[in-house]
Amino acid sequence: MGAGILGVGHYAPEHVVTNKDLEKIVDTTDEWIASRTGIEERRIAKEDEDSSDMAFYAAENALKDANIDAKDIDLILVATVTPDTPFPSVSCMLQDRLGAEHAAAMDVSAACTGFVYGLVTAQQFIEAKTYKHVLVVGVDKLSKITDWSDRNTCVLLGDGAGAAVVGEVSEGKGILSSELGSNGSRGSDLFQDKKNHLVMNGREVFKFAVRQMPESSVKVVEKIGLNKEDVDYLIPHQANIRIMEAARERLGIAEDKMAETIRKYGNNSSASIPIALSESVKQGKIKDNDLIVLVGFGGGLTWGAAAIRWGK
Ligand code: UT7
Repeated sequence: MGAGILGVGHYAPEHVVTNKDLEKIVDTTDEWIASRTGIEERRIAKEDEDSSDMAFYAAENALKDANIDAKDIDLILVATVTPDTPFPSVSCMLQDRLGAEHAAAMDVSAACTGFVYGLVTAQQFIEAKTYKHVLVVGVDKLSKITDWSDRNTCVLLGDGAGAAVVGEVSEGKGILSSELGSNGSRGSDLFQDKKNHLVMNGREVFKFAVRQMPESSVKVVEKIGLNKEDVDYLIPHQANIRIMEAARERLGIAEDKMAETIRKYGNNSSASIPIALSESVKQGKIKDNDLIVLVGFGGGLTWGAAAIRWGK
């Protein structure tokens, strides 16, 4: 038996902010944002809608999709850099709200790579047979740490949540290999400052990402003795369409074999990969036995990838 994904779900706040809306608050243009990043609009949560709320809606959807009761969840891992409060954790808030009375709970902090870190952590507990079901959520309300006067960052970010239930799957399916990495010496390239604003050296992060995403994607596939040609579907962190394209081209896979949600959601950090995964599943883009690669990078700096043979 292996560890794999039994169900997925996501949630995006209702309020849409378009590039044209941003033209009114910073010196930017729809044309600049769309051509440099691929983003056309993003979702922004209401003032009173926090990370735990979005996590809850996404988690409910994933449990339903997996057909699993909250009481059967053994562990909740919430990847986030924008928790409602430093403690209690979002995962504890979620445990209470879901009525997951048998679950342990903790948050995972690995910025945009957080969901991949959570997924691989869940895999260890399942494969060790410590737990049967782990709920992994990626959620971020970046709007609350966005400097809305900084055009270098505010045009990129959005809010949302995605979730997956991880559990036992049949031999040969599920998470087959992974790679997690970090380089703390580059923390100053992407961080939260004393005013609680996200600050980024965009050019440096871009250079790092166009190298790291393809490299990690190829590595996880080679680890299982396969080639990049064997990848059926790619789910990259949605930070910039140009970075995503670099990974896709390096793997040599067709445009429609890569999940793309950046156009309507922007970069919503930990939520980006699980939202893209959930949407792709719901749109029927991932089929039983497909080899899919999830790959992300983010503040830390951190990075991570996982190769998954889809199905139960
Ligand atoms: O998940 C978190 C990880 N974050 C990322 O992955 C972001 C990685 N970096 C990027 O995606 C890109 O570097 C950006 C989208 C942030 C910037 O794109 P770029 O093509 O690297 O632009 P640039 O930083 O080289 O800036 C080009 C010009 C500059 O003007 P000058 O100095 O050439 O006169 C910027 O001031 O574009 C200017 N600029 C803007 N202009 C209009 C920067 N932001 C904006 C803006 N609207 N919003």
